[in-house]
Amino acid sequence: MATRDLPDALAPLASHCTLDVWRGDGAPTPDALAARLADADGLLCLLVDRIDATLLARAPHLRAISSVSVGVDHIDLAAATARGIPVGHTPGVLTETTADLAFALLLAAARRLVEADGFVRAGRWQAWEPDLLLGRDVHGATLGIVGFGAIGRAVARRALGFGMRVLAWSRTRRPLGDLAGAVAWAELPALLAASDFVSVHVALAPETRGLLDAAAIARMKPGAILVNTARGGIVDEAALAAALREGRLAAAGLDVFAREPLPPDDPLLALPNLVVAPHVGSASVATRARMAELAARNLLAGLAGRRMPACANPQVYGVEASETEAKR
Ligand code: NAP
Ligand code: GLV
Repeated sequence: MATRDLPDALAPLASHCTLDVWRGDGAPTPDALAARLADADGLLCLLVDRIDATLLARAPHLRAISSVSVGVDHIDLAAATARGIPVGHTPGVLTETTADLAFALLLAAARRLVEADGFVRAGRWQAWEPDLLLGRDVHGATLGIVGFGAIGRAVARRALGFGMRVLAWSRTRRPLGDLAGAVAWAELPALLAASDFVSVHVALAPETRGLLDAAAIARMKPGAILVNTARGGIVDEAALAAALREGRLAAAGLDVFAREPLPPDDPLLALPNLVVAPHVGSASVATRARMAELAARNLLAGLAGRRMPACANPQVYGVEASETEAKR
């Protein structure tokens, strides 16, 4: 069963499976999904589909789940693992594209690009002014990266190319490889206090929900800029909005939100110093095709009882998560 008509993923599946594709408006409701999963062996889903323990209990034949996303916070991994169901995801293929978007938000927020665009289009550009739309320098500034996995590291490489100093915080201090000597590890409070820019790249998990809460945001340098392309639930949006409104933070760039789609009347949207995008971190033509292709390979492997090329719960194969991550 596929929760969306994704030709790049469905084409490789068509010759191996009987496909049941959800073609309704938007994502299926939990009940609609459960009804379609009653007889399904495999599930191809998106990050908007909530695959929780209740749903899994209503899918007695399910043997493989494949999400067209790297994040798997929408899936109850423990419940899937308890059933021995491998969960495929799409790490690696979207890393550089998502890092590009994070850096685009950083630059746009620093140099007030969206405000500048609106200013010109509104016919407000009357003269060159010495203090018109002054922003923050990116070169020479310090970037703190919260979560130093694949995307965090790809953002670090971009920042170093822009002449930034880079600090990194991660639960696990994995070897820095080519970034050794160029990036310094820091504890989270020290990183927040020292950074002109903070970019968030941790996965959403119970331990990271609200990681950047009001206290953490208060620790940020006055005039700093926050970028979040990870998950909305990691940042306290009300505290962020207050800091932006009061000018304690200069600006922010967000691709992800606690509630998506962000309602048009959300208070965040009244803030001129906020740049927003509708969760499009991995949205390039080539990357979406690579994600779909990997998701199809994951599902085919899972259904055939073979090891998935990218499995988010390798414990189903008797492998510790840390062992597979180390091989990435
Ligand atoms: P990754 O390589 O697996 O890195 C994930 C990072 O999160 C690692 O630093 C990991 O630390 C940390 N982490 C995971 N669980 C944690 C926990 N419970 N407590 C503390 N830290 C934890 O993944 P990635 O490819 O860089 O992607 C990162 C996230 O970006 C995804 O999970 C997804 O939410 C988001 N994303 C968003 C978009 C978008 O469209 N905006 C696109 C792609 C990804 P350890 O090394 O200690 O495990
Ligand atoms: C996008 O947010 C992803 O997790 O792939």
